[in-house]
Amino acid sequence: MARIVGGIGTSHIPAIGLAMARQQCDEPYWRDFFEAYRPVRRWLETVRPTVAVIVYNDHGLNFFLDKMPTFAVGAAAQYRNADEGWGLPTLTPFPGDAALSWHLIEQLAAADFDLTTCQEMFVDHGFVVPMQLLWPGVTDWPVRTIPIHVNTVQHPLPSPRRCLKFGEALGAAIESWPADERVVVLGTGGLSHQLDGQRAGFINKPFDLYCLEKIVDEPGLLARYSIHDLVALAGTQGPELIQWLVMRGALGRGVRRLESNYHVPISNTGSGLLLLEKAA
Ligand code: DHB
Ligand code: FE
Repeated sequence: MARIVGGIGTSHIPAIGLAMARQQCDEPYWRDFFEAYRPVRRWLETVRPTVAVIVYNDHGLNFFLDKMPTFAVGAAAQYRNADEGWGLPTLTPFPGDAALSWHLIEQLAAADFDLTTCQEMFVDHGFVVPMQLLWPGVTDWPVRTIPIHVNTVQHPLPSPRRCLKFGEALGAAIESWPADERVVVLGTGGLSHQLDGQRAGFINKPFDLYCLEKIVDEPGLLARYSIHDLVALAGTQGPELIQWLVMRGALGRGVRRLESNYHVPISNTGSGLLLLEKAA
């Protein structure tokens, strides 16, 4: 049976991908940030997942404001990125696993989640930057990927409570897949940031640290916030935390925290990193 080997929460700021493409990782601005990913990469080398389910939000590459699904699941044989205007490189296409995608879609639909299914899907920096960070310099990706988009762009957004429940259903769906896969679930984005408007540049470090702490053993506390609470507390893009809640939900009740890091700021954002394993 498929097994969830762990969950990773990570930032997806485009500037990270640019720094990697320009080989600036050892520069003073970036050194500590990239250093924090070393133990996570070592963990990946040890655990060797075969599939990565990447929960992220599309920012306008695949979906735009005219058509914005709440939850969308990729069901393609491969996924490409493309120029979004950030200057990120176009990477080798990411292999998919259409059979597993359709299994997840069927199970999630049976659990009353209404999905958009995507047999073609461009993946943006929300997906690509974490993949680069976790497997740097790789051209032959070591995992098959399943992109899951959660709307955090066009209001109304799904509530944190709904996203935690979606994650729980996703975890059950993954673990009911009969093939022998080791699955890592990524939740990307956050933490606090506001990219435009009167509070542009707003970061709430105490709230970010609270989220990094509570999501481990008490994710229900974070699920009580409304989207508007998250905007007030963490900025207009702060609701990207809901992708982390999907990841956390997928891991089930008991988890162990293996790594946690907070670096502020990276670009305009409080950047979080968390590695969780399911408790035995
Ligand atoms: C930044 C952060 C994001 O989450 C994003 O999607 C784009 C840019 C930033 O801080 O620059
Ligand atoms: Fe983002």
